Amino acid sequence: MQENEIVLREQLNDVIVKFEIYKPLIAKSARAGQFVILRGREGGERVPVTLVDWNAHKGTITVIIQAIGKSTSLFNSFQKGDKFLNVAGPLGTPVEVKNYGTVAVVGGGVGIAEVFPIARVLKQAGNKVIAILGARTKDLLILEKEMVDLCDKTVCATDDGSYGMKGMVTDALQMLHDAGEKINVGFIIGPIPMMKFTSRLMDKLGIVPHASLNPIMLDGTGMCGCCRVTVEGQVRFACVDGPMFPSKTIDFDELIRRTSEYRPLEKESLENFQREKDHICKCGLH
Ligand SMILES: Cc1cc2nc3c(=O)[nH]c(=O)nc-3n(C[C@H](O)[C@H](O)[C@H](O)COP(=O)(O)OP(=O)(O)OC[C@H]3O[C@@H](n4cnc5c(N)ncnc54)[C@H](O)[C@@H]3O)c2cc1C
Ligand code: FES
Repeated sequence: MQENEIVLREQLNDVIVKFEIYKPLIAKSARAGQFVILRGREGGERVPVTLVDWNAHKGTITVIIQAIGKSTSLFNSFQKGDKFLNVAGPLGTPVEVKNYGTVAVVGGGVGIAEVFPIARVLKQAGNKVIAILGARTKDLLILEKEMVDLCDKTVCATDDGSYGMKGMVTDALQMLHDAGEKINVGFIIGPIPMMKFTSRLMDKLGIVPHASLNPIMLDGTGMCGCCRVTVEGQVRFACVDGPMFPSKTIDFDELIRRTSEYRPLEKESLENFQREKDHICKCGLH
C-alpha cells in the first residue's frame, strides 16, 4: 500500500462518496473536529475536508466528500487504487471534549458526516447525545444507521417530507424542546444559513451553540488570512482557531458574503471540467 492511496471507495448516494485513504501518520494523531487538506493533481486546488474516522492500526483515514464544484467532482471520480497528490494534516483545533450533560449534534447534508466523529467522542465522554439529521430529500440523508447505533436518540428531518419529519433541523430541535428534552450544548455542521438559524434557535432555547465554519481556506495553517471570520467581534482564523466556534455571536452574513465571492469563477471552472470529461468519454482516445 502506498501513501495517499485510496484503499476503499463507497458511493453513498449520487453526489457523496466515502474514501478510506492510506495515511499512517495522520491516522496516528487525528482527533475529532480536525480536518485535512487534499489536492487531487498537480496545479489543483487545496480542498479542506473533515476527518470522519481514522484507524491507527490500519494506517487509514476516512473522509466523506460531496461533489459541488470542480475539485470535489474530480476527487469523487477517483477509484480504489488511485492516489491523492497531497493529504496534509491533521489541521485545526480538536473540539473540547467533556461531559456537558445532554448535547445535540446537528448535521445538514454532508455535515452529518462531519459531525459524526464529534458525536462519537462526546458519547465516549459520558454525554447523552441526541442527533438531529437534516437533508433536502431522503436520498441525501447519510449515516443514519451509524448515528442511530451511536446516539441516545436520533431525529431525521427532510425538507420535502420524503423521510422522517417534514421540515428543517430547526423544526426538529423545537419539537424536542416542546417535548421536554433539556439540551445543554449544541454542535452544528451544515450549510451556513442552517448553522445561522440553528444557532439562533439554540440561543433562544437556552442551549449553548457551537458551529463548525467553512470559509474558503488556502494554507490551512494560519498564514494566508483567507479563512478569517468574525466571532464575538474578533477576527479569528477558522483553520487554526476553529473550525468549531461558539456560534451565538458569529457574523454569519459576512461568512456568506465571503464564501460567495468567487462564485462566477467557480461556475466557469466546473463547466470547463465537465466539458473536458465529456470530451474524454466521447472521443474514447484518453
Ligand atoms: C474545515 C472544513 C471542513 C470541510 N469538510 C468537508 C467534508 O468533510 N466534506 C465535504 O464534502 N466538504 C467539506 N468542506 C467543504 C469543501 O471544502 C468545499 O466543498 C470544497 O472546497 C469545494 O471545492 P470545489 O472546487 O469542488 O467547489 P468550488 O466550485 O470551488 O466551490 C464551491 C463552494 O465551496 C466553497 N469553497 C471553495 N473553495 C474552498 C476552499 N478552498 N476551502 C473551503 N471552502 C471552499 C465555497 O463556498 C464555494 O462557493 C469543508 C470545508 C471546511 C472549511
Ligand atoms: S487558510 Fe490561510 S489562514 Fe486559514
